[in-house]
Amino acid sequence: MSKPRKQTVLLTGASTGLGLAIAKELLAKTSHHLVLTARPESMLRFHNHGLTEGERVWLRALDVQVAAQREAVIAEVEAAFGAVDVLINNAGVSYRSVVEHVDSDEQEAQMGINYQAPMEMIRRVLPAMRAQRHGRILSVSSVGGMMAMPTMAIYSASKFALEGASEALWYEVRPWGIHVSLIQPGFIHSDGFTKVRMTRESQFSAEHPSDPYHQHYASMAPFIGKMMKNTPATPHSVARTVRKTIARKRPPLRVTATWDAWFFSLFRRWMPRFIYHRLLYWRLPRVKRWGPGGDNPS
Ligand SMILES: NC(=O)c1ccc[n+]([C@@H]2O[C@H](COP(=O)([O-])OP(=O)(O)OC[C@H]3O[C@@H](n4cnc5c(N)ncnc54)[C@H](OP(=O)(O)O)[C@@H]3O)[C@@H](O)[C@H]2O)c1
Repeated sequence: MSKPRKQTVLLTGASTGLGLAIAKELLAKTSHHLVLTARPESMLRFHNHGLTEGERVWLRALDVQVAAQREAVIAEVEAAFGAVDVLINNAGVSYRSVVEHVDSDEQEAQMGINYQAPMEMIRRVLPAMRAQRHGRILSVSSVGGMMAMPTMAIYSASKFALEGASEALWYEVRPWGIHVSLIQPGFIHSDGFTKVRMTRESQFSAEHPSDPYHQHYASMAPFIGKMMKNTPATPHSVARTVRKTIARKRPPLRVTATWDAWFFSLFRRWMPRFIYHRLLYWRLPRVKRWGPGGDNPS
């Protein structure tokens, strides 16, 4: 029997945040061949973080929304190694907005990067993975993919969509020995949420105290910031979970990657829905001041 070749891992959004931590973890603790990708304008960051091309590492420009770039990178990997063995869909963005403050372009951007692009990546790598009869597909989801918080509506929608499609995929590709996993971090001690995008209307509302939704933003933004500052979870600890998930013989579909994700998954599963929603509602920061004097959930 021929010696198994090294696994080839293709990682998106690898130049910063969690992606960078995953890249460093896999580089330090595995012998996998790594194809680290970033948007063309962010490629310089690899150099700034001491990541250079070598025998084990390829650095490639990849905006996950650009079909030609997806095709170029995956075709190059397949020409060299036969298939992508492990695909890690990490690239993502998050918008802060209530449902009423999102226009169709903003919604399209959120869904495009967090849901449609990972699906396109998956569709493109699957034929070669099926041909070799093994593969791993990991997509970074979120606690936002198991529960929704006010002002994070379309972010949650994008992660719920990712979760739903990945769950279906889990069944579909098992006959070929392909394992699908959703990595679910909760809050991570990082500057991730300083990069949160505002929609045009949510930006206006957050800046204008007279806007009916102003208090939603004024309460939720510092609350989320505080949760991120106080959590013990780091990009490094989540990256370790990713590495261990890849190494597992039969990785589970859902992998809670921080303690709060674990807590919320239990809470969501075992708490009757009507109690769960009311409990969370009353735990929202300064919720009695939300809206024009209204404090009653219908
Ligand atoms: N931070 C958290 O607390 C948290 C919690 C749960 C889940 N997550 C998830 O974890 C993943 C990584 O987030 P992070 O916290 O590391 O945030 P981050 O620091 O903002 O990193 C996001 C990465 O995605 C890349 N990206 C964005 N749009 C892209 C595109 N069109 N094509 C290719 N790459 C693109 C970014 O590249 P540029 O910098 O070049 O734009 C960046 O490298 C995301 O899927 C996020 O939803 C994060």
